Amino acid sequence: MRNVYVLGAGITKYGKSTLTGRELALEASRKAIDEAGISATDIEAGFVGNAFSISEKQGHMGPIVMSGLGIPDAPASTIESACASGGSAMREGWVNVGSGVYDCMLIAGVEKVSQLDTITATTFFSYASDFIFEGACGASFPGLYAAIARAHMTEFGTTQEQLANVAVKNHENAMSNPNAHLHKRITVDDVMKSAVVADPLKLFDSSPFSDGGAAVILCSEDFLRKTSGKTSETVMIRGSGRAGGTGALHQRDDMTSLNAAVLAGREAFKRANLTQKDIDFAEVHDCFTIAELIAEEDLGFARKGEAAKLTQEGYTSLKGELPVNPSGGLKAKGHPVGATGVGQVVEVFDQLHHRAGGRQVENPRIALTHNVGATGASAVVHIFEMN
Ligand SMILES: CC(C)(COP(=O)(O)OP(=O)(O)OC[C@H]1O[C@@H](n2cnc3c(N)ncnc32)[C@H](O)[C@@H]1OP(=O)(O)O)[C@@H](O)C(=O)NCCC(=O)NCCS
Repeated sequence: MRNVYVLGAGITKYGKSTLTGRELALEASRKAIDEAGISATDIEAGFVGNAFSISEKQGHMGPIVMSGLGIPDAPASTIESACASGGSAMREGWVNVGSGVYDCMLIAGVEKVSQLDTITATTFFSYASDFIFEGACGASFPGLYAAIARAHMTEFGTTQEQLANVAVKNHENAMSNPNAHLHKRITVDDVMKSAVVADPLKLFDSSPFSDGGAAVILCSEDFLRKTSGKTSETVMIRGSGRAGGTGALHQRDDMTSLNAAVLAGREAFKRANLTQKDIDFAEVHDCFTIAELIAEEDLGFARKGEAAKLTQEGYTSLKGELPVNPSGGLKAKGHPVGATGVGQVVEVFDQLHHRAGGRQVENPRIALTHNVGATGASAVVHIFEMN
């Protein structure tokens, strides 16, 4: 595989938007193109992560985005991998540029769901579970992650207060992210007193339903040299990993770990030839607070059952040894499903370029992103380095 670089990155504000999905994807894509210093006609092909645009009566977002950019001849497919759609689009971009098929690609992600009421949105989302066994029986994603949380609490003694620590940290980080959905400083007490969504998970343990778009430009070394005349001080993809897991929870031996994330992490570290100690910060898939703790354990940053202590002791705070979700994470930055995995890369791009403002991690050089589809039926991990 050739080296693959992230030449530009763009993001919209996350939250409830009056824009359509198409407009959000185009806004983010134009920002990424400007940032990369290229013109749209340099883009040879693209992938657009999206899961639910059909709820807006618009499928086939890939070509829609390319047409909107004025490059309808450039092929683009929509990648649907539930909440890992954006990360999976990144993976396909890495494969296509790395293998030499293309030199310059647009990888975008978008979701627009605020036109749906909560029950309808929850129902749409449940179509990404193993619907016959889960969604159709009334098990929504909050319910499924609540079952995972219960298993973790039973096995390791994890407490609801320890879950709340994750929400407090991520809400704090989002305070200095102008693009975050939720700007609200909270305490453990606020979390504990918030409405129960699916016991033991409460309102502040959950990510919100967000609209938003994110995009990056991936390119080869040849393209990079031609366009910018440099190959240093550029963000490079050091490693990529992707894996699958069973759709339904009842088919798993262990509910306290997402095997797809374990496997994807191992592949990414192996390809990058790096270890956990090399990572300066991570953006992980905290769709519910329990998911951040499990991510840290699955990726090998903590031993099984010990991630809760890391949060409690400040290890994963912005000024800690391993900042996790400096952006505010899905919990507070927001979770526009198809955009989430690409948005994580935008955060990495901004952090590695030292322009993350009040949430800037101290001198980062290597960062990891972790994006999960459903309850771990798919997972994607990438490792980036400022070279
Ligand atoms: C938690 C949840 C049920 C709340 O939905 P809701 O009760 O309909 O909330 P509303 O949209 O009516 O918002 C009510 C208030 O709570 C806030 N809010 C909504 N979701 C929130 C969340 N997850 N965290 C914090 N605050 C939230 C809103 O900003 C609003 O605040 P305001 O009154 O100050 O404006 C919903 O966000 C949810 O289901 N989230 C999970 C989404 C999901 O499953 N994603 C897939 C993961 S795999």
